[in-house]
Amino acid sequence: MTQSIYRLDALRTAFIGLDTTYPLADGRVTRRVYLDSTASTLMFRPAHDALEAYYRHYANTHSRLHFSAKISTDLYHWAHEKVLQFLHADPEEYACFFTGSGATAGMNRMARVFRDFRPDRDTVLVSLMEHHSNDLPHRKHAGRVIHLPLKEHSGQPGCIDLAALEAVLSRERDRINYVAVTGVSNVTGIINPIYDVAELAHRYGALVLVDGAQMVAHLPVWISHPDQPERNLDAFVFSGHKTYVPGSPGVVVCRKDILSAIEPEEVGGGMVERVFVDRYIITSQFPDREEAGTPNIPGAIALATTLDILDRVGMDTLFQEESRLIHYALERFQSLPTVMVYGETDPRICPRAASISFNIYDVDHGLTAAILNDYHNIAVRNECFCAHPYVEEMIRDDIPPDLRREENILSIRAKLKSGMVRASFGLYNTEEDVERLMTALRDISDHIKDYRTLYTVDAEGNYVHRTFRPPLGEIFSLQSLVEAPFV
Ligand code: ALA
Repeated sequence: MTQSIYRLDALRTAFIGLDTTYPLADGRVTRRVYLDSTASTLMFRPAHDALEAYYRHYANTHSRLHFSAKISTDLYHWAHEKVLQFLHADPEEYACFFTGSGATAGMNRMARVFRDFRPDRDTVLVSLMEHHSNDLPHRKHAGRVIHLPLKEHSGQPGCIDLAALEAVLSRERDRINYVAVTGVSNVTGIINPIYDVAELAHRYGALVLVDGAQMVAHLPVWISHPDQPERNLDAFVFSGHKTYVPGSPGVVVCRKDILSAIEPEEVGGGMVERVFVDRYIITSQFPDREEAGTPNIPGAIALATTLDILDRVGMDTLFQEESRLIHYALERFQSLPTVMVYGETDPRICPRAASISFNIYDVDHGLTAAILNDYHNIAVRNECFCAHPYVEEMIRDDIPPDLRREENILSIRAKLKSGMVRASFGLYNTEEDVERLMTALRDISDHIKDYRTLYTVDAEGNYVHRTFRPPLGEIFSLQSLVEAPFV
């Protein structure tokens, strides 16, 4: 493991937005507690600073001979190398390429790649906990999708059920092209045993695609396992905006032999050797082959800068640090009798990273999230987090028994609680942030009757405060900021 010369405490405070304040509905002005990192992490300051310096040299990597083009090309090349190194992917065997602005573009691309690589296989296995971006692309591009169940622990779902996976792999072995599974749930933060999934899938001739969107910022990833190649991942997708770099491209790492066997899914400038009016010759070079058009060069460089520093600190160390905070938060949640936390909560049974989703009994998730924001300055996300089947499965039992008798249980459910509240953490969060959340949830539970009178629901179903109108235009006016030097 790399010996770190970096100070963890300095790293944890090197993010932009940790001191952001907002005025609240009760007249106080307080520091925002950012608990929405699973949606998008805050920006790592060194990545921002690196970009500011680099912009003086910015140029297109498709230009060749001027100084700036050479600097840009070298840095862009380094960004690919850095990603492969950070994810422990053997550069002889794997290529990295950038696509889109999140994981979704990479997932769509890989669904088409795997479809074209093995057109005789029409079935994809996904787990029930997948984000829509690791479900719908396979339905649309790759054929039949089978949703695998999750392990149950005292009525709560845990990680993917390996026995169920093996049963389907064995039953459908000739039809299954690949297994697509998330490394970490974006709803519960539950960590899946992706290397065991890979070993099983490979035993039955299936490929493995891992959604690493919630993984890369939080725990070490090993795409290559030199001593146990059966545990290698065939493809891995993640997004830089969840890895402390807003503005980053999405990232795909895939086995080169798979990519080389088919024509690239995207065509255009930069991925060809020669173009004639009646044909074109595609380059065999990676990543050029997979990156048609001018790429997001600054975003890739900022991402690599961040990965480089995280790597030097050591992802094992960072994972331990974050696990400590998640365990602390899970324990503190247990002190709230009115709050229900979803998914198995014992970290010895189901380790977690980043996310904890919950509801206060009988309080709509939207109302909880609005009060957390307006009265406590705590930023969370609510609803279904683009994982409808998983969330629906978990909230099924929340319907009060007297209403369960009603005929149209589905519509009751939709009206009552079509979602959850999610608190999600990054490197910068502290026990103090968790305590702010606990205090806020206790306050909401104790004063919910009063709070209800202060809110109304708008036509889109959002909770809106009856009187509080935060002066957002005054708090942040982009126009006056950019105009100032010219007036
Ligand atoms: N996929 C992101 C989330 O889970 C947006 O919040």
